[in-house]
Order: sequence, then structure tokens, then C-alpha cells
Amino acid sequence: MNRINIAIDGPSGAGKSTLAKAVSKALHIFYLDTGSMYRAVAYAAVKAGIDIKNTYEVEQLIEKIDLHTVYVDGEQQNLLDGENVMPYIRTPEISKAASDISAYPCVRHKLVAMQREVAEKYDVVLDGRDIGTYVLPNAEYKYYVTADAGERARRRHLELAHKGIDKDYDDVLREMKIRDNNDSTRSFAPLRQADDAILIDTTHMSIDEVVGAVLSRLSQE
Ligand code: DC
Repeated sequence: MNRINIAIDGPSGAGKSTLAKAVSKALHIFYLDTGSMYRAVAYAAVKAGIDIKNTYEVEQLIEKIDLHTVYVDGEQQNLLDGENVMPYIRTPEISKAASDISAYPCVRHKLVAMQREVAEKYDVVLDGRDIGTYVLPNAEYKYYVTADAGERARRRHLELAHKGIDKDYDDVLREMKIRDNNDSTRSFAPLRQADDAILIDTTHMSIDEVVGAVLSRLSQE
């Protein structure tokens, strides 16, 4: 059976997840937030007191980790030892740890296999960094969503403020640039636009405009 797999990649704060959620809702298909899976591994590492710079410790963690991604009432849950860790993984500490731990091939192999399994089983919109280039190179629909670093930091700053996390805009921008650099310079499956992905620069676009552009394109294909 031919599955609908829609790949949405790009740096953090570009609007990927908002777009992916809206598209999945409009098409009545699942949404897979692959970044949350790297975050769940980072959370497991922090919880276990593992040194993320230590390859051996990270490999041991991945060998033993009990991590499953499931859908409950249409919503993704990442279960670590049976517990849904989605509520705990959006802190700045876990953001940094997720970026660092995602550079390990052993981590990527594990999560990419889980992501491919979901994409085989369900019609799904996936967002991440390497979906169009590595996870699903044959996906029929690929988008690369980006925006100026300043604009992305402004959005992330606002998002944190809404959650009651008070952080300097300059710190958000600085940390975002470090993560961008980490994610796009790692040797294995770095953040990169796939040759056949459609580029969307959201710097001067509202989310409704972005969603509208993608949905009207999909309906024409
Ligand atoms: O999208 P996010 O900010 O929740 O992702 C957290 C980290 O996970 C990000 O710094 C890079 C990594 N990531 C990745 O390497 N590959 C993906 N497909 C998704 C996320």
C-alpha cells in the first residue's frame, strides 16, 4: 500500500511543528514529532546522570533504553519505561542535551528505525532535521521550512514566555545559533535541505499563510 508520508525539515523555531500539526489535522493523518524522540532520549540520559560527552555511557544507555512511540487518541506519546515523558522534555536543558545526544550514530540508528516503522504503518506528517534526506529519502512530499535566526529566536522567546519561562532574548538567540551549528555540522545525517524539497522561508509569513501554501500545493498534486 502507498502511504502518505510528508517530510518537513528545518532548523528550530522555523514553524515546522505548527505547520506539521495543521497539515496532519487537515488531512486527518498522524503527526510524528521526531525531535521529541531525541528529547526523550536526552531526558533519559539526564535522569540517569549520564555524561553526554561520554560515547560509552551513551551507547550503554541506548542498548538498554525502553522507549516506545505510540498514539493515544491520535496524539503521539513517547513512553520511557512505560511513562509518557512528553510533558518533561521542552526545557532549555533538554533542548541542549537533545542536540548533543542526536549527534551519536547509535542514537540516530535507534530512532530512525522507530520513525521508519511509524511511516510504514500510518499515513503521517513527520517533522525533523533529516526526514527528507535520510529517514524517508523516497517520501513523495518534502518541505524545508526556514526563517531568519533573529525571527526564529523571537518566536522561541515568545513561546517560552507563554510557558512562564523567563529568558533573555539574547540568550535564546545565542543558544539557538549554537544548536543550529551543532545540528547542521554533525557528520551523520546533518540538517540539510533535500535536493527535491520545496523551500519555504517563513520569516515574513504568518502561520496561516504557510499552512495555506502547503495545503493548496498538496491538493494540486
Ligand atoms: O525539533 P526539536 O527542537 O524538538 O529537536 C530537538 C533536537 O533533536 C534538535 O536539536 C536536533 C535533534 N533532531 C535531529 O537531530 N533529527 C531530527 N529528525 C529531529 C531532531
